[in-house]
Amino acid sequence: RTLRIGLIPGDGIGREVIPAGRRVLEALPSSLNLKFSFVDLDAGFDTFKQTGVALPEKTVETLKKECDGALFGAVSSPTTATKGYSSPIVALRKRLDLYANVRPVKSVRTAKSPVDLVIVRENTEDLYVKEEKTYEGPNGKVAEAIKRISEKASFRIAAMAGEIALRRQRVRDSGVDSIHSKPLVTITHKSNVLSQTDGLFRETARRALAQSQYQSVGVEEQIVDSMVYKLFRQPSAYDVIVAPNLYGDILSDGAAALVGSLGLVPSANVGDGFAIGEPCHGSAPDIQGQGIANPIATLRSVGLMLEFLGEEQAAAKIYAVVDGNLEDGKLLSPDMGGSAKTDEVVEDILRRL
Ligand code: NAI
Ligand code: MG
Repeated sequence: RTLRIGLIPGDGIGREVIPAGRRVLEALPSSLNLKFSFVDLDAGFDTFKQTGVALPEKTVETLKKECDGALFGAVSSPTTATKGYSSPIVALRKRLDLYANVRPVKSVRTAKSPVDLVIVRENTEDLYVKEEKTYEGPNGKVAEAIKRISEKASFRIAAMAGEIALRRQRVRDSGVDSIHSKPLVTITHKSNVLSQTDGLFRETARRALAQSQYQSVGVEEQIVDSMVYKLFRQPSAYDVIVAPNLYGDILSDGAAALVGSLGLVPSANVGDGFAIGEPCHGSAPDIQGQGIANPIATLRSVGLMLEFLGEEQAAAKIYAVVDGNLEDGKLLSPDMGGSAKTDEVVEDILRRL
């Protein structure tokens, strides 16, 4: 099978880590029977400054017509309101209907408080429909925002969480060591207060996960505020967490703090039949051009992209060699307390491959 991958480095260290992702794809063992072809695509603030658009139509069309998946680096956002600029990754999620944001957070096994969880965030609705208004009330200004939850979006995101829980279990069954022994999905909401919106999310997620194919998956619920408490007290209690957009956004940045560096945490934007891998960090202007960016968030994002394109074995291989590098601890980048350059980390990982 040959997969065509769009490469969108964007700005700053995006240009240093996306090439690392490509090198790892090219180095996958031939026994996996996977080949790749690549197409370089533009997006980001530099593109905006040069052309007046942050996400060229050509990038969107090429992804739609030619590509099986993509890797996205990071973009710099202007610090002051800039006319005509809007975030290209937000636009891409819409244009390609990438309705889920998936963020695994994993520590090394030897960590004092080990973490191995995935946050599955609904990515199209909730408060982020951005239907806001401000008006003059009897006692001054009032602002309102719509929180929209639909059955359709809640069902498909919970089903995706179920699929991810099953897939993680398959990996464990194949002998990969883990802190978990059973698949578990935790539904996060605040339906004690928002009985209609979060109530619908909760009820629909329950129904999606009650389908027979998820019979082996444990299902529990947690109110979002107590979830935050428990996530920090006892992160090992979680396997897969599914949440509406806003809670998912907050939980996923919070969970990233559990593992030390932003340079470790990957994500994927996933729709039906398409996935974009994207490290969670930004363009890191403070270290750009120095060759010291941690490539691991991107390499794990490469694995995630492959998972959602149906290449679970290739993904597992990448995760394993990355974990090998971290557990060995000899070639770590400066954000991890080491002194290795980006290329040295990549080369260590290629050797392990
Ligand atoms: P950032 O994630 O770029 O950097 C935060 C801190 O983490 C910095 O000290 C940086 O050096 C460090 N860091 C991040 N990734 C690293 C890596 N791979 N290896 C080593 N160290 C790493 O966030 P910041 O500074 O708030 O934003 C910088 C720019 O990035 C802004 O223009 C912001 O709008 C944009 N941004 C873009 C995102 C995206 O494209 N998805 C996400 C977050 C920020
Ligand atoms: Mg966020």
